[in-house]
Amino acid sequence: MKVLILGANGFIGNALARRLIARDGYEVLGLDLDADKLDGVLGHPRFRFSQADISTDRDGVEASIRESDVVLPLVAIATPSLYVREPLRVFELDFEENLRVIRLCVRYKKRIVFPSTSEVYGMGSDAEFDEDTTPLIMGPISKQRWIYGCLKQLLDRVIWAYGFEKDLRFTIFRPFNWIGPKLDRIEEPKIGSSRVVTQFIGHIVRDEPIPLVDGGMQRRCYTYLDDGIDALLRIIENPGGACDGQIFNIGHPENECSVRDLARRLRRIYEEEFGGTRIPAERAVRVVESESFYGEGYQDLVHRKPSIRKAKRLLGWSPAVGLDEALRRTLGSFLDDLGMAHRAPHAAADRVGR
Ligand code: UGA
Repeated sequence: MKVLILGANGFIGNALARRLIARDGYEVLGLDLDADKLDGVLGHPRFRFSQADISTDRDGVEASIRESDVVLPLVAIATPSLYVREPLRVFELDFEENLRVIRLCVRYKKRIVFPSTSEVYGMGSDAEFDEDTTPLIMGPISKQRWIYGCLKQLLDRVIWAYGFEKDLRFTIFRPFNWIGPKLDRIEEPKIGSSRVVTQFIGHIVRDEPIPLVDGGMQRRCYTYLDDGIDALLRIIENPGGACDGQIFNIGHPENECSVRDLARRLRRIYEEEFGGTRIPAERAVRVVESESFYGEGYQDLVHRKPSIRKAKRLLGWSPAVGLDEALRRTLGSFLDDLGMAHRAPHAAADRVGR
């Protein structure tokens, strides 16, 4: 099976490419602007890389789709600070470019495995978000944070409609706060420039207080990348067509914690691995207001927990990596990348050959 990964150098893309090429029967075609995360993948006989920008290299994207069996369009901006600061850029890349890819999959009758997002549930009040019953609730238009969840929701609906009217073969998956090696670039210390775990690790290694937005009582369920990729491999394999026309939450409901607790856990793990920071415990965190941290267009959700009943039933999948272990491995990978010696080597997602 030939799998096309648009955004092969991204956080999910590089990990997926590694795992696919380790399996007999799979060939991977990877497109991206850069290849710096693809060490150990480039040059593999079952991997072919094309350097391309999906916004400008339209012929290249179309040709790649034509020669593939399954298409994963993983190119997107996924950082909340950019939803607020540059909503049009998010719309143009995440919506317009991906809509083009979806339409090419319809035209060439290719199966698409599409990354939706936990953000589509917005501020829903269900204790656990269910793919087929939970209402999707966004804030007002002036709160630009929702442009991402809203555009992903519309793409989910468009894909669903193409399945309904034009027989597009699709599976939609919704990652819930996946974390792991190469999540974001830690070298960029800019406030809010990456997702919370990268951001917090950066503060810890630089001996800075950790900013807790609005006090940090908001909760998320963090999912280790390897678990997420395991689910994706099952979706791509799709035995008996069980995943066709389905939407799956891919998250770890038991790994729920508040942002404040996340900061505490990361500091403790850093201490165990590396010996601690120079910041005393009483100055380890500082509370910041979301409006000054992200801007007026930000609005948050207080909790977000997936139901994974469908993934268990149809994919036979359950996540295996608990929260502390997921944080330990993620932290370990960042410390490795920064060349900082520490105790536990991370169990990298990039073990080509397993
Ligand atoms: C994320 C992003 O939208 C996407 O990466 C993705 O689609 C989705 O959720 C997901 O991964 O499931 P969110 O969880 O809000 O959204 O993003 P983070 O930037 O990781 O922030 C998590 C929480 O930490 C937020 O409540 C934020 O206000 C808080 N935070 C973030 C802080 O308290 N301090 C910081 O320095 C950064």
